[in-house]
Amino acid sequence: FSKADRDRTLPEKKTKELDCYVGFANLPNQVYRKALKKGFDFTLMVVGESGLGKSTLINSMFLADVYSAEHPGPSQRVKKTVQVETSCTLLKENGVNLTLTVVDTPGFGDAVDNSNCWQPIIDYIESRYEEYLNAESRVNRKSQPLDTRVHCCLYFIAPSGHGLKPLDVEFMQRLHDKVNIIPIIAKADTMTPEECAHFKKQILNEVAQHKIKIYEFPDTEDDDEGKANGKKLKDRVPMAVVGSNTIVEIDGKKIRGRKYPWGVAEVENLEHCDFIALRNMLIRTHLQDLKDVTNNVHYENYRCRKLAGLGQDGKQPRNSNNVSQSVINNTFMTVWNPLAQMEEEKREHDAKMKKMESEMEQVFEMKVKEKKQKLKDSEADLQKRHEQMRKSLEAQIKELDEKRKALEAEKSTWEQANGISIEELRRRSLERE
Ligand code: GTP
Repeated sequence: FSKADRDRTLPEKKTKELDCYVGFANLPNQVYRKALKKGFDFTLMVVGESGLGKSTLINSMFLADVYSAEHPGPSQRVKKTVQVETSCTLLKENGVNLTLTVVDTPGFGDAVDNSNCWQPIIDYIESRYEEYLNAESRVNRKSQPLDTRVHCCLYFIAPSGHGLKPLDVEFMQRLHDKVNIIPIIAKADTMTPEECAHFKKQILNEVAQHKIKIYEFPDTEDDDEGKANGKKLKDRVPMAVVGSNTIVEIDGKKIRGRKYPWGVAEVENLEHCDFIALRNMLIRTHLQDLKDVTNNVHYENYRCRKLAGLGQDGKQPRNSNNVSQSVINNTFMTVWNPLAQMEEEKREHDAKMKKMESEMEQVFEMKVKEKKQKLKDSEADLQKRHEQMRKSLEAQIKELDEKRKALEAEKSTWEQANGISIEELRRRSLERE
């Protein structure tokens, strides 16, 4: 629903100023207390070739060693395939807890052949979305699912002064609809202010030319701070940064910077680099917006692609079932649709029933087969017994036949010896009687 649609469906609103205190003016405090108790979490991904100053910048930004213990420095990095590593730190400031997860991608752009080196990064981002989607779609959702989605990706561009490399373009094109990308010009102290300004223009032109959608910082009141410096903070994108974890002393003042024989490049000086602009926008003013855009745009895109059965590139996988365009469109418009869920559950139930039916059919077929085999066995048994009986009767007949023949031979021998036949003898004895 658009706001206009919603206004049309709602009854007309009357404004009424209350004369006395009811208490709902305290609502923001309730939300504040609840949020404070729960704490905040933020996942920041850093991508860029080795040695561009990623760890130095992140540590400078949070003024803490959030990116070192488990992460070896450049000299120890021997991996030639892209890995994804995470480190989690709980930061506390004035009673507010921030769980910061830094996702590092060692090996990115370091190989001779860098084709597909973005794939492990896409897989990682999507797997976090999948985890969240699974947790969200569970029937029993005990609490808000743990949010491990990547809220922002700082993409480090080498200060070459020659615009974007093909790998930079390819990476941003492949990830711009999956995560908030903020391009960063690394080691800005290696360029003069003019070179840096020209490099920024070149990058922005190429970003527009390749239709790359980088994260757009919305205007906020805090931008006044930037205006005071003659330039809006968001106009500094792509931010050219200098990182340093060492403190140098100038005129008795301790500052974070890089000391050279010709001067000091101050990290926290907007005249020298955009570090402060980046830190303010990323942490102070736009952290929640980055999370909102991740949830409302990138995660929603992923969810819709997933529900519509589309692949990572947003196209229909070759072996998937055909989903009509209207289904895809409807899915993209839907934020939460109980009917769709019911439909899905019905489909699952039908599939279950079908499976049970086919299992029962299998059992039935097996039983019929068993019965048939039993009948066959007993038929063979009967046949065998019948054959045995026949053979024994034949043997008896043969024996009797032989006995009969022996008796007849004995009879004829006796008749010859006595000169009279048995029949004649029987007739004479009958006459005598
Ligand atoms: P991997 O851990 O290999 O990915 O490197 P990385 O990108 O984390 O770079 P790292 O922070 O380890 O810095 C590499 C080198 O660059 C170190 O010697 C840093 O002191 C130096 N360095 C970091 N930031 C800057 C910077 O802004 N300007 C200059 N000139 N050097 C920097």
